[in-house]
Amino acid sequence: YEAQFDLSDIGKGTYPYYMLKEIDDQPTVMRRIIREYTNTLGDAVIDKKIIEKLTASDRIYIVACGTSYNAGWVGKAILEKMTNIPVEVHLSSEFGYNMPLLSEKPFFIFLSQSGETADSRQVLVQITELGLPSLTLTNVAGSTLSREADYTLLLHAGPEIAVASTKAYTAQIAVLAVLAKAAGDNKGNQLSLDFDIAHELSVIAAVMETIIDEKMTISQLVEDYLSTTRNAFYIGRGVDYYVSMEASLKLKEISYIQAEGFAAGELKHGTIALIEEGTPVFGIITDQKTAAHTRGNLKEVESRGAHNVVIALASFAKETDQVIIPDVHPLLTPLVSVIPTQLIAYFATLQRGYDVDKPRNLAKSVTVE
Ligand code: G6P
Repeated sequence: YEAQFDLSDIGKGTYPYYMLKEIDDQPTVMRRIIREYTNTLGDAVIDKKIIEKLTASDRIYIVACGTSYNAGWVGKAILEKMTNIPVEVHLSSEFGYNMPLLSEKPFFIFLSQSGETADSRQVLVQITELGLPSLTLTNVAGSTLSREADYTLLLHAGPEIAVASTKAYTAQIAVLAVLAKAAGDNKGNQLSLDFDIAHELSVIAAVMETIIDEKMTISQLVEDYLSTTRNAFYIGRGVDYYVSMEASLKLKEISYIQAEGFAAGELKHGTIALIEEGTPVFGIITDQKTAAHTRGNLKEVESRGAHNVVIALASFAKETDQVIIPDVHPLLTPLVSVIPTQLIAYFATLQRGYDVDKPRNLAKSVTVE
């Protein structure tokens, strides 16, 4: 592999923290992914051998940890729609010791920013012994998971230094979308054939910029809702639930606010007991099918004292919603709905006086099982 990182990328420049720089990098990363993985006709360009193996499989297994695992759920939603191949998403640390029943022709995708996570590596070692095909999506060329898998796709996100992962998450989703497009086209899937990935990712880059430019409104929201709270919830359905999982991980890992991401409809089956006067509940609404239901769930918690904050896509937004995101392609909404949640975690940490880039007890890359 060629060296991927330009040394000038590693400095913080004028940024107070790497995390803020890395949030700001995301539109550039999207454009780099367009350059690396699409041609002038707008088609996805991925090694044919990868596409042959993937489309010959009867089931895709995504294996990952932490933020990469959360990206895997979004990848599942995109891959299933574009390829019609069922996708399972697994935590490496569970899969390794409790291997599920495998299908006849599985295809494995390992997601790992660092390419060094020991929990993921032990799964790769096991499935390689079984002779099963594997692909690693990683940000680090030449990393262990890249060297040991059959195939590699690089994320091209540039070095990610802050412990809390931001641009690797969106890069993973974007590269999975390119992979899904290439495989879907190969299978003649109409949704895939109609999907102009280069164009849609360039819309994503522009919308990311719009949200990032308005970061001070997020800072104000954090001051209003998160300055003293002990806990907070993110809720959503479908991909909005998957983004809620990532949003809450980001918030808890650096601001130490106890945060949970919940399937909006499941909250009432127990966890709603935790809602008190003033508990912040963030609702993510980007999907027409589920928008009304999630709003219903937000009403339920509001009547129990919650302070709701709605992050909604313009098409389904109400004027009173706190964060309104310009419309993007329905398959790619997580790439933009996650941006305000990254900024929420950043500002909450800053306002509470903690080190944004180096949270306690955490390492950027975990090389023990
Ligand atoms: C650590 C980091 C997380 C990261 C996870 C997986 O726990 O603190 O931010 O998501 O490892 O890392 P990977 O490099 O495999 O994506």
